[in-house]
Amino acid sequence: MNVSGAVVRARGLVKTHGQGQSRVRAVDEVGLEVPQGQTLAVMGPSGCGKSTLLHLLGGLERPTGGEVWMAGRRIDTLSERALARMRRRSVGFVFQAFHLVEELSAAENVELPALLAGCSRRQARRRASLLLEQVGLSGRARHLPSQLSGGQRQRVAVARALANDPLVVLADEPTGNLDTAATLDVLRIFEDLRSAGQTLVIVTHDERVAATADRLVSMRDGMFVDDTWLTGSPTRGLGGLIGLEE
Ligand SMILES: Nc1ncnc2c1ncn2[C@@H]1O[C@H](COP(=O)(O)OP(=O)(O)OP(=O)(O)O)[C@@H](O)[C@H]1O
Ligand SMILES: [Mg+2]
Repeated sequence: MNVSGAVVRARGLVKTHGQGQSRVRAVDEVGLEVPQGQTLAVMGPSGCGKSTLLHLLGGLERPTGGEVWMAGRRIDTLSERALARMRRRSVGFVFQAFHLVEELSAAENVELPALLAGCSRRQARRRASLLLEQVGLSGRARHLPSQLSGGQRQRVAVARALANDPLVVLADEPTGNLDTAATLDVLRIFEDLRSAGQTLVIVTHDERVAATADRLVSMRDGMFVDDTWLTGSPTRGLGGLIGLEE
């Protein structure tokens, strides 16, 4: 299979949590490929393994079995140190609960991953200012997270996820805690990112969010049970080569 365009790739991915009676197969033999520029949405009931899958793809958790590849490089076998480096350089996470640093301003929160990825202070500041502008928050750069609304905090979190210019943005319920107006703001940002060719994996319960994707997979009990192309044909000429594994 030609996988030159795959930014994220997983084969036979398994993750079990717990021991004995309480053992759960959170992710159960999942295979996927997300080509450059594709937006993949993952939907499914609570507890079906969506967050676990996202954590495995981004190297936040290690699989019990199977393989994860990022831009052609296998990551599940990396040392902790190399894995952390890969995350800092290549992955942008958007968490459901924002996870902003409360003591830092909006701008400083966004600067942080840029600094960690190796930008100079000046570059990081410039990038944070551009990103805050992109998410419509130029006027809030000096505010602390506690001085922002839920929707504004989530927009800071999206800007932060982009600060290291990641190969892929992994978003876990990015609109989960937001009202309709804030959801639409975040949705617009994801649509802009998609238009700009950003590779995205979005876990969501919201049909409106899923509708912005190129492809939608449904999960049940750790497995993919459905796979739908939303943009008609496989995306950007690569999708024909890309399929779920059995
Ligand atoms: N650290 C853990 N220890 C034990 N079990 C866990 C752990 N993390 C997740 N699980 C279990 O693994 C399964 C999948 O959890 P996961 O958080 O991936 O689900 P999810 O699809 O993201 O759910 P939700 O939509 O509620 O966020 C669940 O049954 C959960 O209880
Ligand atoms: Mg979850």
